Amino acid sequence: MIVTNQKIAVVPGSFDPITYGHLDIIERACKIFDKVYVSVLRNSSKKGLFSPEERIDLISGVTKHLDKVEVIQFDGLLIDFCQQVGADAIIRGLRAVSDFEYEMQLTSMNRKLDSHIETMYIMTNNNYSFISSSIVKEVAKYGGKIEDIVPPLIEDALKEKFKEQ
Ligand code: PNS
Repeated sequence: MIVTNQKIAVVPGSFDPITYGHLDIIERACKIFDKVYVSVLRNSSKKGLFSPEERIDLISGVTKHLDKVEVIQFDGLLIDFCQQVGADAIIRGLRAVSDFEYEMQLTSMNRKLDSHIETMYIMTNNNYSFISSSIVKEVAKYGGKIEDIVPPLIEDALKEKFKEQ
């Protein structure tokens, strides 16, 4: 699985579901790195709407145009996944100051677990800085307009999900 002499990034998240904000970060990571693993991980403080398999399918569907991307679900520590794929860096998006404290905790802990893997932040495009998966789900649940914040595939999946419930 390890690709030598190539710069490898991991873009981790819960992606429940993936938004245009996430996609923007993944696309920009692809401009810098040779290989980008989008890793679907468990965030123990969040209750999921989509199953891990559904999230993988949705991410794969909206990243089809990105040859460098591989989407993988991992049940464990992010740093263990990074070690398994030989990652050089973890890439996260930063939307606003409110993200900072949590991200600093995440980065510090991951650095303590493995100081060789850098965490790097990409500032989210201003158009997407207000988007979160939680807000998208809330708006979709009550039939609000989400076409500017998630790709059509995700919009359809959300509509379907809330029809089932
Ligand atoms: O999209 P999110 O929910 O902000 O992503 C958070 C995520 C999934 C990256 C984080 O919760 C995580 O890394 N989970 C895997 C378990 C882990 O490694 N936890 C310790 C990190 S210090």
